[in-house]
Amino acid sequence: MILKIARMGHPVLNQIAAPVPNPQAPEIQRLINDMIETMIDANGAGLAAPQVHVPLRLVVFQAPGERADPGLAEDERFDHTAPLTVLINPEITALDGETEGGWEGCLSVPGLRGWVERPAHIRYRGLAPDGQLIERTARGFHARVVQHEVDHLDGRLYPGRMDDLSKLIFESEIRHFATAG
Ligand code: NI
Repeated sequence: MILKIARMGHPVLNQIAAPVPNPQAPEIQRLINDMIETMIDANGAGLAAPQVHVPLRLVVFQAPGERADPGLAEDERFDHTAPLTVLINPEITALDGETEGGWEGCLSVPGLRGWVERPAHIRYRGLAPDGQLIERTARGFHARVVQHEVDHLDGRLYPGRMDDLSKLIFESEIRHFATAG
């Protein structure tokens, strides 16, 4: 079932989400299926449960190979890509002090893009729907999408991470920026 996506201004996007108490409960499995269907229908790279009005610590995302920097060598690409992933009760650690800027969009902030600096190299962990532990390192778009989605669980939208609001723009104007991917 395709779910309604909350837009910036709805209070559910500004609250701290609660841990998922029982990842294998049928209602959680149903929520996961509906979130994946909703994300794909909306053509998004990720979706967090609060975006569908459920304040729980659960995200879905994907970082396909075509979103990775085409200049990467094959052995470097590993950290930059991720299959469709469901992550329950996720935690993120920045692995060094390096940050990287990139354009972000959000299904809850339709039509806009913003330039956001974030840690470039992270480790994250969380549970898969079958209860198995997922633990990965990530860089590039993969690191960015995970951080963006986990921010939703702490009531943060990407404009709140920006330090230069002149780079909060309409999608149609991104051609004016040389850095546009
Ligand atoms: Ni978002």
